Amino acid sequence: MSNNFNSFSKIIQKKSNGIELKNNEINFVVKNYLADEISDEQMASFLKTVINKGLSKNETYYLTKAMQQSGETLDLSELYPVADKHSSGGVSDSTTLLIVPILASLGVKILKMSGKGLGFTGGTADKVLCFQGLNNNLSIEQAINITKQTNGCFITQSENLAPADKKIYELRDKNGLIESIPLIASSIISKKLASGSDIILLDVKFGSGAFMKNLNEATELANLMIDILKQESKKACAVITSMEEPLGDFVGDELEVFESISILMGNKKNNLLKLSEYLSALILSMAKNINLNEAKKQVRETIESKKALEKLKQIVKVQGGSLNIFDEEFKSFKVNLKAENSGYIQKINTENIGFLTRKHKGTFNNFLGIEIKARTGRKVSENSNLAILHFKDNANLINVKDIEKDYKRCFEISNIKSIKQFKLIEKIIK
Ligand code: URA
Repeated sequence: MSNNFNSFSKIIQKKSNGIELKNNEINFVVKNYLADEISDEQMASFLKTVINKGLSKNETYYLTKAMQQSGETLDLSELYPVADKHSSGGVSDSTTLLIVPILASLGVKILKMSGKGLGFTGGTADKVLCFQGLNNNLSIEQAINITKQTNGCFITQSENLAPADKKIYELRDKNGLIESIPLIASSIISKKLASGSDIILLDVKFGSGAFMKNLNEATELANLMIDILKQESKKACAVITSMEEPLGDFVGDELEVFESISILMGNKKNNLLKLSEYLSALILSMAKNINLNEAKKQVRETIESKKALEKLKQIVKVQGGSLNIFDEEFKSFKVNLKAENSGYIQKINTENIGFLTRKHKGTFNNFLGIEIKARTGRKVSENSNLAILHFKDNANLINVKDIEKDYKRCFEISNIKSIKQFKLIEKIIK
């Protein structure tokens, strides 16, 4: 222990002096922290030094590999090639619910591991449970068998993948040490490498509802992650997309599942569809070695012909979920959220919409979520609808006024007409 302490002190000292750490030194820190030989306080001071001094590309790669190798790496070779996508968190981002059936219907295998909602972002692991009875708590063998049968599967994140990242992430979260591009890159990619897929698409978000608040930071994060994936011989590309507004029209798990089904039925066209088509086409072009335009055509065709819808039904059924939701009309009790004054929407506080929805859903079990009606740049008149609040029924609505007040603050309205146009897809990094 005292030997360990001496070595650890030297490593922190070296980093503080701006000297690049070696692979064995980073490995030492990760291994000993996971084994409780380095305390939370010591690790927090190491992470603070890393945040102050930064990490070189080599150091980031070593950290990624050390965290990946702290647990198992899944062997998906019998499904080769397997695709995966990762979104760096968002609000009303149900692209996974669309991309999995779209790709599976086009013959691309995608065994999608997802986490639960975190902070202001929703999680696919929660959303798929809205298909009553669906089991996503599967062993990897079960998930491989389902993917062989259907090409697609929804599964929860395994506890054995990158356990060092899990422990370090929790410490970062508790101590406000999340915001570091190399730490975020190594955290995300350690899990991607451990989950064993061959083709990886990263949707890196920036803006109000994302970890990266601006385009430059998002680009730096994307470049770093793509570098590591390329070093590991993965087929990979990243797309930088805006999270200045909720992606789809609905926020709240049940509402988002309903929205995804409506889109696959052909009843709804919005930014959620646009981005899902784009991300699916990028993955398809990597999986089949075809150009992006051809891939876009195939993606559109599988949606329009309802093959993607049928594929989603097949996956849900094989995973034990009920198909009733596909036939039922979505019913809810609605409360309009009205603008208090006229003007133009300057900004939507997307992060707060995400937080509030998770908070109010956790507090009032009657609350389903919010449907966004007014978008950035839109002219609104007094009393026109900014959004609609959805409830399961009209029982126990005593707190509606408080919920309304909270959400109204998320829409910034003023008389200024010229505002920047919202642009969804900024660039691709290969
Ligand atoms: N998501 C992760 O998995 N890790 C981070 O550090 C940030 C977002």
